[in-house]
Amino acid sequence: MDYPAYVRNARVRKWVAEVAELCKPDQIHWCDGSQEEYDMLCEQMVQSGTFIRLNPEKRPNSYLCRSDPSDVARVEDRTFICSISKDDAGPTNNWVNPKEMKETLTGLFDGSMRGRTMYVIPYSMGPLGSPIAHIGIELTDSPYVVVNMRIMTRMGKAVYDVLGEDGEFIPCLHSVGMPLEAGQKDVPWPSNHKHKYIVHFPEERTIWSYGSGYGGNALLGKKCFALRIASVMARAEGWLAEHMLILGVESPDGEKTYVAAAFPSACGKTNFAMLIPPKEMGDWKVTTVGDDIAWIKPGPDGKLYAINPESGYFGVAPGTSWDTNPNAMASLERNSIFTNVALTDDGDVWWEGMTEEPPAHLVDWLGQEWDPDCGRKASHPNARFTAPASQCPSIDPDWENPKGVPIKAFIFGGRRSKTVPLVYQAFNWMYGTYLAATMGSETTAAAAGAVGNVRRDPFAMLPFCGYHMGDYFNHWLQFGRRIPNPPRIFSVNWFRKDDDGKFIWPGFAQNMRVLKWVVERANGHAVGTESPLGWMPRYEDLDWNGLESFSPDQFYDLMSIDRDVWQQELLQHEELFLRLFDRLPKELTHIRELIRSSLWRSSEHWGLAPERYASTE
Ligand code: GTP
Ligand code: SPV
Ligand code: MN
Repeated sequence: MDYPAYVRNARVRKWVAEVAELCKPDQIHWCDGSQEEYDMLCEQMVQSGTFIRLNPEKRPNSYLCRSDPSDVARVEDRTFICSISKDDAGPTNNWVNPKEMKETLTGLFDGSMRGRTMYVIPYSMGPLGSPIAHIGIELTDSPYVVVNMRIMTRMGKAVYDVLGEDGEFIPCLHSVGMPLEAGQKDVPWPSNHKHKYIVHFPEERTIWSYGSGYGGNALLGKKCFALRIASVMARAEGWLAEHMLILGVESPDGEKTYVAAAFPSACGKTNFAMLIPPKEMGDWKVTTVGDDIAWIKPGPDGKLYAINPESGYFGVAPGTSWDTNPNAMASLERNSIFTNVALTDDGDVWWEGMTEEPPAHLVDWLGQEWDPDCGRKASHPNARFTAPASQCPSIDPDWENPKGVPIKAFIFGGRRSKTVPLVYQAFNWMYGTYLAATMGSETTAAAAGAVGNVRRDPFAMLPFCGYHMGDYFNHWLQFGRRIPNPPRIFSVNWFRKDDDGKFIWPGFAQNMRVLKWVVERANGHAVGTESPLGWMPRYEDLDWNGLESFSPDQFYDLMSIDRDVWQQELLQHEELFLRLFDRLPKELTHIRELIRSSLWRSSEHWGLAPERYASTE
């Protein structure tokens, strides 16, 4: 085999040769990460019908791609953590014996790249050479994956310099699982309709993914490496790999505070990370470090430092507009890839929620004629844009700082139409771990399967934790004990609905009012009053400048903790705990009992708006 001279790492050379022998591609392309290479692959995909070049005047250097209609989201039921022992994967992960899984997959990968090119993608998760960053190499037969990885990661030749002759990397093997036998014609979106496997071997720290070309199934640096495998590394090495956005808040006095927030998939991380504060609140500024994943390590000064391991946004398109998220709209104005959105007559993109009035005619995500009365959605609910982070107007000046940014607060938030208040602060790290561990959320289109059921999604990591969830809770508890003055922990819920099914909270930019309280609490400046769950703001503790129409009554509806409803909620926490019983830290069951008993205490002590609770005595 011929190797480029700059690939000096013996393990890389050996592994690429082995995979090539197994998968039998027609040729191997060693990606250098250059603009020329990117343009060449995009042009090639335009020729083959995978990409449609968008109107360069409307959307310069950008492309539309339509996936196979059966390959539109992560496949959680086909995602496996193949640890040696089943117990180490835990009850929330699919598990198959690694030996057995390798046999199955070796059978599938044998000849799976016939008639195709195998691309070797060297990439760094995090700024090249940062002490918090790690390197991966993905082998794939999908040029779509290559160009997306170039936006989402630091991809290219320079990675081999950091790797040197014997540096560590995570081997990531990917095939769409559709070999082209002699003379067989390719399709615009190759995938395997029968077999899909997204597989992690945590002890070996390797990833094998077969049969899907979409998002987290195929861009292996993202969920597979940066969350599932990295969570395993983080536990072993004493750090955190989390499904969190990272943002900076600058107060009118110039005080800068960094916050990391975990919301489940398609629950508003990108929106929150790029928030523009309402003008009436004064000179507050929010800057974006990351919108999906945070790697967090304790620094020499005892503070926690976070980096965004990614360099792009793979964001949910529907609902993104100049009203809801102008920073995202600006980020995707050029140099972007759009998957499963609609095409306009003038060669631009459109999706539900982008404009109030839909265009009179479109070609939808399936390639079919569309008009507003046809009764179908023009874009898939999990349609995504891939856009370079550097194009985001709110990007933080330190987003590429190899040291990371210091985190003062963690926020956790699910999609809950009932039950969970707008915001509260956990009494301490242990209570915070409890609230994150028991977080629930209504499921979204970001994963294949039913949409809208409440499920427990601990730390927004249910589909992303590479080991036993009980051990993960324990890692969090221990981690907090080892650092002085750990970040404060908060719960938020933007999604509470009234009896007519309408969102009570206006959300989006207005979330700044909650964020301001969070940051002021974390810095010790704001008032909080005790509730059974934690510290809460009273109406007068939030900044209402510009939102005076939101009444105290509406606010207390949003903040209410209904005793009977919460007794039910606690039973659901118990159900999760029972599933994890053999590795569940005892502290968490005790905290549940503390919450249970404080719910039965006189509610006057909640101090929020005593007159509202008096009648429940
Ligand atoms: P992944 O990329 O899947 O991890 O998700 P994400 O958390 O980055 O999702 P994203 O920010 O793209 O979430 C998009 C969805 O959240 C859309 O349906 C938005 O309308 C909705 N959303 C975001 N912020 C708010 C908010 O403040 N209020 C309400 N009601 N909806 C919101
Ligand atoms: C998510 O589902 O949380 C995502 C999108 O961020 S994907 O990369 O497809 O997993
Ligand atoms: Mn995500």
